[in-house]
Amino acid sequence: MFHIHIVDSSNRGAYRDELEQHYRLRHEIYVGERGWHNLARPDGREVDAFDTEDAVYLLGILPGKGVVAGSRLVPSLKPHLMSEVFPQLAPQGVPRANDIFEWTRIFVVPALRRPGSPCQAAGIVYCGIAEYCLLRGISQLSIVCETYWVDRLAKLGWNPRPLGRSFEYRGETIVGLMVDMGEAALETTRGTYAISHSVLWAQHYQGASRSVDLHDMAGGATGG
Ligand code: COA
Repeated sequence: MFHIHIVDSSNRGAYRDELEQHYRLRHEIYVGERGWHNLARPDGREVDAFDTEDAVYLLGILPGKGVVAGSRLVPSLKPHLMSEVFPQLAPQGVPRANDIFEWTRIFVVPALRRPGSPCQAAGIVYCGIAEYCLLRGISQLSIVCETYWVDRLAKLGWNPRPLGRSFEYRGETIVGLMVDMGEAALETTRGTYAISHSVLWAQHYQGASRSVDLHDMAGGATGG
């Protein structure tokens, strides 16, 4: 259907148009559809304090259509949503380590969603996240999310663990979670969506101009 392109500080220039499209989609989805009006910006781009050079974007790009899905990972050692805005979700302390990243902003465009049945596009994004984490040596993700994600992520085999109690925030119930990444998470996620191959663009097109160097990525989060 589409591949997941990893966009980080090393290849951002090659993805300028797609990143712009993704900021606009985020605005349409989070502000327009979800009604998170605190994220509204007059320029129609949903960009926050954590869209920095350190952010890693996983963009689902459909040839001829552009960005149809996305998500973001931020190193937990850098300022991130849980550390700066919601530290109360982790009363024992916000988990921070080289091999922990924060996961935010997953979306699939409405046209590719399948309410009431498994959404293959979402499955590709989940597999992309699990694959990237494995390659990059990221062993856990921290998440600020609505509570319905606990069951969702348990079904994917990500072993979600609340860091504290949930809170009401702007009409939603949110919680801080940790999930495990690794071979088991990837296998269960692939099994859930009957995906048997890599969904990462660079895995298919090594050497293409718009790919990150997976040898660097495979150096692992602890390898710097
Ligand atoms: N509140 C409560 N439950 C919700 C919910 C919400 N806002 N959104 C989804 N759910 C439930 C669904 O009812 C569904 O339950 P079911 O399995 O019993 O039918 C389950 O959670 C899975 O929802 P679904 O949307 O089908 O999951 P998905 O994994 O296919 O897709 C997204 C997930 C996030 C990709 C997709 O919902 C999306 O793009 N949403 C808009 C962006 C967004 O809200 N992102 C999350 C916050 S960053």
